[in-house]
Amino acid sequence: MKIKILTLFPNMFNEFIGESIIKRAKDKGIVEFEIIDFRLWSNDKHHHVDDTPCSGGAGMVLRPDILIPAIKDNSCSNTYKILMTPQGRLYKQNIAEELSKKDEIMIICGHYEGFDERIRDYVDDEISIGDYVLTGGELASMVLSDSIIRLLNDAIKKESHEDDSFQNGLLEYPQYTRPIEYDGKVVPSVLLNGNHKDIRRWRLKESLRKTLKRRPDLLTNRKYTKEELELLDEIKEEEDGEK
Ligand SMILES: C[S@@+](CC[C@H](N)C(=O)[O-])C[C@H]1O[C@@H](n2cnc3c(N)ncnc32)[C@H](O)[C@@H]1O
Repeated sequence: MKIKILTLFPNMFNEFIGESIIKRAKDKGIVEFEIIDFRLWSNDKHHHVDDTPCSGGAGMVLRPDILIPAIKDNSCSNTYKILMTPQGRLYKQNIAEELSKKDEIMIICGHYEGFDERIRDYVDDEISIGDYVLTGGELASMVLSDSIIRLLNDAIKKESHEDDSFQNGLLEYPQYTRPIEYDGKVVPSVLLNGNHKDIRRWRLKESLRKTLKRRPDLLTNRKYTKEELELLDEIKEEEDGEK
């Protein structure tokens, strides 16, 4: 996959691309990055990319005569162009999965007050990473890239993300590592007995329990399996017993 990022702050991406799983994915050729400084599309002496809002108001607005040519010059017919904006559709794991199937994406990072409205006509998608406002789209573009890259074949072990939260509509089950006992707290014995059937069932049950407790909204439209319904009954009985 190719990820092109249009930004005014290309240096912000050095560490992101140069460390850990993202670096390994890049080195293995799983992902290719192109970080494009769209200030280069400004022809004036001071390389201005923004101007004051028409009819007044605070802040500066990114100019269409800079960004639209930058978008056009750097995209081809298969480039999926995404504007980072708090006004976009809310980013979720299913969108990461959808984007991970594209050959090439372009992520456009705003700054200042944001974009001239006309720029929206030149993109395929608008995405927000949450209901809050960042100073620029760079961190948001890293969130998108990171969550997409870990889904690409061979970026990480497939099993590592198969059980991740949201992947099957549930939060992930509790995870433990050594030491088996710490500060009086012990790893559940089912995880130590080597019985894969028991472990799988325990994990599913604890995933359901966690999701019920922390994110019941995720369960609203869930089509439960027979086993999940049994486990939900068990959870309910256990919780009634604790009252
Ligand atoms: C200060 S914000 C502009 C916000 C804009 N005035 C508004 O109210 O919609 C500057 C840039 O940061 C990025 N940004 C800020 N919050 C974001 C969010 N929640 N998700 C994605 N991008 C965001 C966008 O690229 C945006 O153009």
